[in-house]
Amino acid sequence: MEGMEYFYELYEALPRCGPGNNESTRQAYNFIPVLPEHPLVLDIGCGPGVQTLELARISGGRIIALDNHKPFLDGLMKRARAEGVAHQITTMNISMHDMDFEDKRFDLIWSEGALYFMGFQNGLRRCHQLLKNNGCLAVTELVLLDSDPPLPVMEYLKNEYPAIMDIRSNIELIENEKFSVISHFSLDKPAWLESYYLPMEGELARLAKKYEGNEIASVAFEGMRTEIDMYKRYGDFYGYEFFVMQKIGF
Ligand SMILES: C[S@@+](CC[C@H](N)C(=O)[O-])C[C@H]1O[C@@H](n2cnc3c(N)ncnc32)[C@H](O)[C@@H]1O
Repeated sequence: MEGMEYFYELYEALPRCGPGNNESTRQAYNFIPVLPEHPLVLDIGCGPGVQTLELARISGGRIIALDNHKPFLDGLMKRARAEGVAHQITTMNISMHDMDFEDKRFDLIWSEGALYFMGFQNGLRRCHQLLKNNGCLAVTELVLLDSDPPLPVMEYLKNEYPAIMDIRSNIELIENEKFSVISHFSLDKPAWLESYYLPMEGELARLAKKYEGNEIASVAFEGMRTEIDMYKRYGDFYGYEFFVMQKIGF
């Protein structure tokens, strides 16, 4: 896609690459019923790894943090070393499409804002294979929060995420893929605005100056500004749902 380098430059300057924060990571983690003392965790699409670091702190486990963009992983390990949790984290610079771990390897699989790159249903199936019996999966997924959103929202989402569904339909899908939903909750506005869009607005202003007159960069940045404006206007109608689930069909 044209202009990808500008997206990467933007995202590499941000603390995280999608909505979320340590509070929601902890909230989801606290729903997990049982885990070994040192669980083996897979974090799919970890990005800069804010949640990876939090999982290392709260789980005391070993974490494989996987992403196809190496600079994110390098930044994650730098922060992990600074925080003294590097010995718990192994990064893998591969695509989630190419995961070839043996089946039933993981106690817990985590994916904030990334499983949809495999298609949500495919992602659930792959995680089901990789989880131990009774293992748990926690993901955030973009959902419709309102059954009758205004037309501009539907027009926008039709382009951005045509597969979007409401919460109930997502739960049906999850249950059909042999998971039981332990709990689910919507990310709150600060998880979008303070943790994600506020830093992004700052970086967009900086990059707009840096790339003044560059048509491709300005189209890329304009798309991000539209995304922010849409959420500020219509964030009651769509959002990220954190689904915490347990593998039940073996
Ligand atoms: C929306 S970001 C979320 C990152 C992180 N989980 C967070 O919440 O900040 C999606 C992440 O998925 C990664 N990604 C996209 N496609 C991927 C693929 N095919 N395999 C592995 N990672 C992928 C991107 O590089 C990015 O880091």
